[in-house]
Amino acid sequence: MSNRVIMAAGNWKMNKTPKEAVEFVNELKKLAAGAKSEVVVGVPFVCIPGVAEAAKGSNIKVAAQNVHWEASGAYTGEVSCGMLKELGVDYVIIGHSERREYFGETDEMINKKAKAILASGMIPIICCGESLTQREQGVTAEHVRYQVKIALLGLSAEDVSRLVIAYEPIWAIGTGKTATDEQAEEVCAIIRQLVAELYGNDVAEKTRILYGGSVNAQNAKSLFSMPNIDGGLVGGASLKLNAFEKIIKHYE
Ligand code: PGA
Repeated sequence: MSNRVIMAAGNWKMNKTPKEAVEFVNELKKLAAGAKSEVVVGVPFVCIPGVAEAAKGSNIKVAAQNVHWEASGAYTGEVSCGMLKELGVDYVIIGHSERREYFGETDEMINKKAKAILASGMIPIICCGESLTQREQGVTAEHVRYQVKIALLGLSAEDVSRLVIAYEPIWAIGTGKTATDEQAEEVCAIIRQLVAELYGNDVAEKTRILYGGSVNAQNAKSLFSMPNIDGGLVGGASLKLNAFEKIIKHYE
């Protein structure tokens, strides 16, 4: 058994208004109190102030779903690390396949974001994962290794031991088609092996690697009990109190 704390991280995507978000978190903090998992909610920017306030004094941590790497300047529509940090954000999800696909994010941009997030004292949750075509072509390992290697370029061992990597096969996101425990474990182990090659075994033993893609109340327990899977990045099921509670308390 590793010493890594299992993380249940919700990725709300573009869902819930600020008011709905606060109501949800006020309920969630009762359900999540005392949980053994680390609980994170990844909320839209405009929900962050209310959610951070509601989560104060609870075991719920707050994640943003994106950030710009520059500290300030003429970047209309963007948000900086300093802005998020001031609101009490702990984690920032970067490189989600939806951002790569719909907003043109590249591995180099994700690397710049990772550096800026760490420099400001927050922790990146770096997403990676192959498409169905790539899986069928047999290039999953190469693709994921490439994405992660670039995302980590120039980061220190200390940084890499703190950050979180989320393996999210694109074909499993929002489709109800979860990777099998073995498929998810296989790629998470490949990612850990890559971290070990780049930073050594001690660092690789600390880096948390999540699985994401149709995680739900039924499959969380077996996925999270795989040796190289340290929890989940959860979309749809994190929007429902009962389902997310079960995922947080998957060990019961
Ligand atoms: P899903 O989304 O759980 O709804 O498949 C996961 C994600 O995109 O992070």
